[in-house]
Amino acid sequence: MSRRILLIIGGGIAAYKSLELIRLLKKRGVAVTPLLTKAGEEFVTPMSVSALAGEKAHDDLFSLTDETQMGHIELSRAADMIVVAPATADLMAKAACGMANDLASTVLLATDKPVLMAPAMNVRMWNHPATRRNHARLLEDGVRFIGPEEGEMACGEYGPGRMAEPETIAAEILDLLEAGRIMDVSALPEGPLSGRKVVITAGPTHEPIDPVRYIANRSSGKQGYALAEAARDMGARVILVSGPVNQPIPEGVEVIPVESAREMLEKVKAEMPADIAIFAAAVADWRVKTAASEKIKKGGKGAPVLELAQNPDILAKIAKMKKDRPAIVAGFAAETENLIANAKKKLAAKGADLIAANDVSPGTGVFGGDDTTLHLVTRDGVEDLPPMSKREAARALMERLAAMLPAGEWV
Ligand SMILES: Cc1cc2nc3c(=O)[nH]c(=O)nc-3n(C[C@H](O)[C@H](O)[C@H](O)COP(=O)(O)O)c2cc1C
Repeated sequence: MSRRILLIIGGGIAAYKSLELIRLLKKRGVAVTPLLTKAGEEFVTPMSVSALAGEKAHDDLFSLTDETQMGHIELSRAADMIVVAPATADLMAKAACGMANDLASTVLLATDKPVLMAPAMNVRMWNHPATRRNHARLLEDGVRFIGPEEGEMACGEYGPGRMAEPETIAAEILDLLEAGRIMDVSALPEGPLSGRKVVITAGPTHEPIDPVRYIANRSSGKQGYALAEAARDMGARVILVSGPVNQPIPEGVEVIPVESAREMLEKVKAEMPADIAIFAAAVADWRVKTAASEKIKKGGKGAPVLELAQNPDILAKIAKMKKDRPAIVAGFAAETENLIANAKKKLAAKGADLIAANDVSPGTGVFGGDDTTLHLVTRDGVEDLPPMSKREAARALMERLAAMLPAGEWV
């Protein structure tokens, strides 16, 4: 697999950190094509940048030699992804408005590749309504962000605005490149969920007992994966936060693999805001309070006693978010008794907008099987779907959720 990024270095104090970013990426086998803005060159020199990258640093839109060798359009497509670090308030504004009046902004407008921005600016610049608007617009356009982090800034003020550390940015880049998470949103089909972001959890969680043993459940992930495919087919950008399963990675879906419930919550939170969040994972209610750091050995003291601690309730935590709550939050209720009554209770207690209840009693074959019978419980009532395949159920549920979305309020 080719591993090349185009790194745009904007004009901010944090530009010095981009030198370390280049070094880390090169060490990990990622080729870096550097591009400096004119302001970026006030902070780091093209010489240092190209010496570290081992490649020419591009900086001029109207360079006759560059245009004849590798034009700006080709430059915008030659890498697997574009990383902007530091992303200045100015670069974010230009990209949000679709301006193209220098090499960096032209490349950002001409690219068909995923873009990751690592903003760095004064806290007031970051919190300014104009930057808030630009940030929201860029998220809507499919641009990914890492940071900014909160902390003391070069200007002496404190708050969000510090660029993420080079190690963190490098890890995110590698994760995106290697886990197949980078995706061209323009390749998604047109549909009722075009331009929408849908976050779905799937599969079981594994709660460690020691480095080799864990507590798990029988969830196959089939329903969550079918939902991801259905949402993708309806045009959505889909993030699938998946516990350990044996399902093939669906094309055009970004899969974030996780193991434990706490890890799943963390990854889901990091993907907020979203238009729709669906919690189809069979999250373990309990974990071992203190997992052993070494393999527990058979010994003279008899069988070990495992003390359990309650896991966070991911559905309730997201449904009750004060800020960045998805417009629609849906959960699954796998019950073996009092199906509808329990689903109604769950809907109210967790603050969800829809609960898809299914009977998983032994003999129904729902856990691990291909078919299911869903009952969609909302504040307006209960809709009983007939027995059908999990794929068909996923399509029906996605159509129902898409219809519940308030018009025009995109994240
Ligand atoms: C000393 C100094 C530090 C700056 N730091 C930042 C910064 O961290 N973030 C930012 O958005 N702008 C910063 N600026 C302002 C940008 O350099 C300015 O908006 C410039 O036009 C950005 O150009 P560019 O987006 O093409 O790189 C700084 C300016 C100066 C003089």
